[in-house]
Amino acid sequence: MSGRTEVSAAQRAREDEIVARVLASFDSCSDQRLLELMRGVVTHLHSFLRDVRLTEEEWNAAIAFLTAVGHKSDDRRQEFILLSDTLGASMQTIAMNNEAVGDATEATVFGPFFVEGSPKIECGGDIARGAAGEPCWVEGTVRDTDGRPVAGARIEVWEADDDGFYDVQYDDDRTAARGHLFTDDEGRYSFWAITPTPYPIPVDGPVGQLLDATGRSPMRAAHLHFMVRATGYRTLVTHIFVRGDELLASDAVFGVKDSLVRDFEGHPSGTSPPGGRTIDGSWSRTAFDIVLAPAES
Ligand code: BEZ
Ligand code: FE
Repeated sequence: MSGRTEVSAAQRAREDEIVARVLASFDSCSDQRLLELMRGVVTHLHSFLRDVRLTEEEWNAAIAFLTAVGHKSDDRRQEFILLSDTLGASMQTIAMNNEAVGDATEATVFGPFFVEGSPKIECGGDIARGAAGEPCWVEGTVRDTDGRPVAGARIEVWEADDDGFYDVQYDDDRTAARGHLFTDDEGRYSFWAITPTPYPIPVDGPVGQLLDATGRSPMRAAHLHFMVRATGYRTLVTHIFVRGDELLASDAVFGVKDSLVRDFEGHPSGTSPPGGRTIDGSWSRTAFDIVLAPAES
């Protein structure tokens, strides 16, 4: 039952008056968008406080939590984004700002592990650079929503290693399991990566404690990150996921979309991989045809 129903008319009037005074305090704001945002946040914040009848003890705990989120954040670690991700706010913002256009590939969360200036590889090259994991051949095309190839599209790819860590999570300045390449004249691309495996989001901070306290798993479904940029097109930030991964339905940041789930075909040791590469062990392959939406769509 909502706490609000237990409140007397006099008490409700006192609470309404506070909301009205706070809203009115923004009346001289000349930036119309800022005014809309501030009125919205005040209205929803006070509705929340009153709906749950927040206690002073809970208010103190919330302040302590947000303070800890701030203290955990620095140039390399963004605990506020992790909080947004785990509350689904990142995916909601992405969904609102990347409306479907034709059959354009869907976007998903960016995550904290992208690094500008990744190594360039040629088509058919290897982004692994020694990262632990099973080799995985990835190939596909980049096209526009009319089916025309997009030549020279810049494709950034990055992923965690088999131990569940991105290169930037190690202390030794390694660069591994990330790189970029460009589509050829027919919009084609291909590269070697490693077969994605599930891993937990960072849990050594207040967001990890919140997941633990609420009985939630920190695990992300196995994925390979892509960012595709080409002049005249909307930049696409997305991942591909592995069909059959049991975490698809419970991804910690709500990033999975059915359209992004791909078959990763397993090949046993002794079979010939593409591009004449010799592999001592098993490998996998997958295909991901990307469709870019026009810019300004
Ligand atoms: C990631 O996929 O790298 C990621 C996304 C959101 C939060 C943490 C990690
Ligand atoms: Fe990731």
